[in-house]
Amino acid sequence: MNGGDGKSRDAGLLSQGTGSGDEKGKGAALKREAEERARVKTGAAVREEVREGGESPYIQVDRVLKRCQYSQDALIEVLHAAQETFGFLSEDTMTYIAHQLKLPLSWVYGVASFYHHFNLKPQGEHVCNICMGTACFVKRAGDIVETLEREFNVKAGETTADGKLSVNIVRCLGNCGLAPMIILDGKVYARQTPESMLHHCKEAVKG
Ligand code: FES
Repeated sequence: MNGGDGKSRDAGLLSQGTGSGDEKGKGAALKREAEERARVKTGAAVREEVREGGESPYIQVDRVLKRCQYSQDALIEVLHAAQETFGFLSEDTMTYIAHQLKLPLSWVYGVASFYHHFNLKPQGEHVCNICMGTACFVKRAGDIVETLEREFNVKAGETTADGKLSVNIVRCLGNCGLAPMIILDGKVYARQTPESMLHHCKEAVKG
């Protein structure tokens, strides 16, 4: 899915864990710190929610955590709730979830980065995920990436300067018979060409 922010960030994340920080005091401090950073780093919707309601930005995440009784098996469901709330999974959010589920941060990060559904960076208004698995690659998915990069002046894994379109490369989406396969704003586009996908993206951005 996402390319990530580089090896050093990955290495930093992978070297971290919940360690011995299961004490209540540390948990509360971590939550406060993560909430404070979330106010600064997450999207407008979250800032608006904090301003209007004065509630924790993690309220939806906390609801799911409680409903699932803090079961580690609920990790994907919790990550999903977090992404629904924030639009992407920041390091702070993953740290918070790791602590609540008593899982190593490296485990949470590993799951979040494995599934193409999860975004580790803020996404644009429209999101185009291009499969570059073997079957799609053979059927010119790379040309689609190049065309979108050129036409929208954006690099794969990034978002256009105006925040309108994110272009991501993802692993096999599991339906190779539809290669090359692209998911634009949650909708599947099968057997695309660079021209057809450029058209779809332009239409989406135009609104
Ligand atoms: S390689 Fe693209 S769907 Fe499998």
